[in-house]
Amino acid sequence: MIVCLCHAVRDRDLDAAIADGADSVQDVGKQCGAGTGCGACIPEIEDRLERAGRGCDRAAAGDCPQTLVSVRSRNLTEPRDAA
Ligand code: FES
Repeated sequence: MIVCLCHAVRDRDLDAAIADGADSVQDVGKQCGAGTGCGACIPEIEDRLERAGRGCDRAAAGDCPQTLVSVRSRNLTEPRDAA
């Protein structure tokens, strides 16, 4: 499956870059080009890095938009405590 349309990078290319040691969006971009165009695939790259146990460098800095979206989505979908 193509994940990065700008550079025609497949999901398996991302996984290979991560398996080869890429531990940030920038590293993945250097290895396969994903995330270096429009940026629409960056959340997918961050998800794959997170699943591989690698940190999102922007999350570490506290300004990762994907992390904020995930937290907000979780808060909206979790049942509220009965008051
Ligand atoms: S879709 Fe990956 S940089 Fe545009």
